[in-house]
Amino acid sequence: MSSNTETKTSASINIDGKQLDCPIVEGTEGERAIDISKLRAETGIITLDNGFVNTGSCTSAITFIDGEKGILRYRGYGIEELAEKSTFVEVAYLLINGKLANKTELDAFSQGLTKHSLLHEDMIHLFSGFPSTAHPMAILSSMTSSLSTYYPESHDTPSDEQVDLDIIRILSKLRTIAAFSYKKSIGQPLIYPDNSLTYCSNFLNMMFAVPTEPYEIDPDIVKVINQLLILHADHEQNCSTSTVRTVQSSGASMYAAVSAGISALWGPLHGGANQAVLDMLEGIRASGDDYKTFLGKVKDKKTNIRLMGFGHRVYKNFDPRAKILRQSCDTVLSKLGVSDPLLDLARGLEEEALKDEYFVSRNLYPNVDFYSGIIYKALNIPVDMFTVMFALGRIPGWLAHWKEQRDSGVKKIFRPRQIYTGANEQNYTTIDQR
Ligand code: CMC
Repeated sequence: MSSNTETKTSASINIDGKQLDCPIVEGTEGERAIDISKLRAETGIITLDNGFVNTGSCTSAITFIDGEKGILRYRGYGIEELAEKSTFVEVAYLLINGKLANKTELDAFSQGLTKHSLLHEDMIHLFSGFPSTAHPMAILSSMTSSLSTYYPESHDTPSDEQVDLDIIRILSKLRTIAAFSYKKSIGQPLIYPDNSLTYCSNFLNMMFAVPTEPYEIDPDIVKVINQLLILHADHEQNCSTSTVRTVQSSGASMYAAVSAGISALWGPLHGGANQAVLDMLEGIRASGDDYKTFLGKVKDKKTNIRLMGFGHRVYKNFDPRAKILRQSCDTVLSKLGVSDPLLDLARGLEEEALKDEYFVSRNLYPNVDFYSGIIYKALNIPVDMFTVMFALGRIPGWLAHWKEQRDSGVKKIFRPRQIYTGANEQNYTTIDQR
């Protein structure tokens, strides 16, 4: 446990006439948890918590969320201020190293990212092996795993210097992989990284430049990309970050853990929701449904339809990231002169849902994914790249958690228990007797 946790009181659990006193652990923001680590050893009983709704899997000093008040802070800094004043590279440094970088530190970090942006040339051939219809999340995850084959020194027990180098490599090269996978999917020549460009400009250039004509990088778009990546950079123990920590706990490399995190993020209930929101809006428009008809389908449990981009496990009031993006959406669309009927549709759905008893009683509010897709669409980022954009933003968070767990020195493999509900002991019968 980190040194910033305090044990103040205890909770008593009475089981089969036996009492166990469990310490109550309190974090720096007053969140409390019952430490049940001795429960099974002392009583033979375990806890059961589907979806880990009530389970703290670790202590962490990286990100604080208050879901009731709509607070999100990275290393103590409010998301609103970071989104307005900072850059993605600076936020990545903050999350991974625990403090805002001074000029020298930030320059060194940025230079590292610039220097390590190229992929090993042999890796380029791997892209040709994927069908043109391959989802870029599948490519990103496989390529991250493949990247590890070029750095065997990162396996086993990497030194502190090696860990720092792997962090830089992953942050820089995954951006190149993401852009290359897009270029491959549309059959355009790869645009290699350009060392004269900053992190987000370099990404835009690799995505949208072609060798035949100049590509002007719009500073307003660079600013929005920075903001989007900052807003996605960490979110404490979400599904993909917990996956990264789980894989780290087995001693697997940073590349293996991040590759697994990318796969976990892909699902529509997690990072895949941004693509699902756009698909949903397109579907509503194509069907000619009005908001009420569509929301009626969502509320009918038999349909299994969810209002994508709504609801959150932690935020039960509002998602502060959605609030920022709702505003940015307006700014970006008007700056680019884009008028998108899907934005009007999203606004209408939001307004209708926020006064509907079904959503109100379940505390369902727009989340970060509700508006991000509309912005990506306005920036000409294709729909199946939306979740890749989320992944690029989340990399610093995954790396920060991987490092925090590794640096804690605690070597405890994540290995939950279960309550077995299958058949009792049976005798094997040979096939002719079945
Ligand atoms: N549309 C309709 N009903 C919903 C929705 C939704 N988007 N979200 C939750 N509900 C209902 C759900 O059916 C359940 O109703 P009931 O109590 O009648 O059974 C109740 O609300 C609680 O839902 P839950 O699934 O138990 O809540 P959860 O905390 O396990 O799930 C969630 C959180 C984000 C997976 C869920 O709200 C959801 O599926 N949202 C849509 C997908 C989405 O936008 N995901 C992006 C999340 S933000 C980015 C990220 O961090 O990945």
